[in-house]
Amino acid sequence: MKKMKVCKAVFPAAGLGTRFLPATKAQPKEMLPLVDKPIIQYGVEEAMASGCNQILIITGRGKQAIEDHFDVSYELERMLEERGKTDLLNIVRSISDMIYVAYVRQKEALGLGHAVLMAREMVGHEAFAVLLADDVIDAKVPCLKQMVEVFNEKQCSVLATQVVEGEMISSYGVLDVKPVDSRFGDRLFEIKNMIEKPKLEEAPSNLAIIGRYILTPGIFDALAETPTGAGGELQLTDGMRLLLQKEKMYAYVYEGRRHDTGDKLGFLKATVEFALKREDLGEPFREYLKGLKL
Ligand code: G1P
Repeated sequence: MKKMKVCKAVFPAAGLGTRFLPATKAQPKEMLPLVDKPIIQYGVEEAMASGCNQILIITGRGKQAIEDHFDVSYELERMLEERGKTDLLNIVRSISDMIYVAYVRQKEALGLGHAVLMAREMVGHEAFAVLLADDVIDAKVPCLKQMVEVFNEKQCSVLATQVVEGEMISSYGVLDVKPVDSRFGDRLFEIKNMIEKPKLEEAPSNLAIIGRYILTPGIFDALAETPTGAGGELQLTDGMRLLLQKEKMYAYVYEGRRHDTGDKLGFLKATVEFALKREDLGEPFREYLKGLKL
């Protein structure tokens, strides 16, 4: 059988962003900047660096700024050109030149599983990636690329996972896994079961699902049969549990540092860390931080 490749990346971005009100009243949360780049662009760049050349963004009402961001901005480009601001012009152009982006609108925010199901027509019978833009992962080898390596070998769905200690585990999908022998060492597990946002005492392990998935197209049939779950929403985790009855699935402990930018504290931490790493800002920002009387 011909090997499947991962060329398409889906970004669910229809969520209302209530955790960031009032900033997200008239602006999509995906467009909040980490230093000077919108959160979603980090994810799109990761997908591209991992071999995906088609990006599908699932949007909703009030998300037009995302479409404008990845589109050509003629007025801005002309102005920068006239003023000879070539560096900025290149940055602006590189965003719209980046990739082929398509949009599907999710009319109602009915859950992550529902958002992924919206991608069915565009994805067709291919394996594809799902990236939750809130999870910004800083890694030497892009997180999704690490997972694509696993996928290329196993040809099965692969979920990113990391250890989350204590009560916080209840904010995640949680995995029950068994070790497998593979060249990926103790980073790769076979998934036995998974549960969305369990109570601490019901969590099958401390391995949380992180917002990077490679899924086989079987997920669409599974999601179509999945009943509404926690919070009255169609949960991706519930759909994947159904898929697990038909196909093997793997969990991969990626190498890298994840920032939960959907959380205010996580967002602030990410901002500081990314700013400190910048060539142009790192030094003066470090000096400034040192001078704060903490
Ligand atoms: C979603 C998923 C959850 C996953 C998490 C990762 O939850 O439902 O399984 O662990 O993303 O960030 P949310 O953060 O949207 O509540």
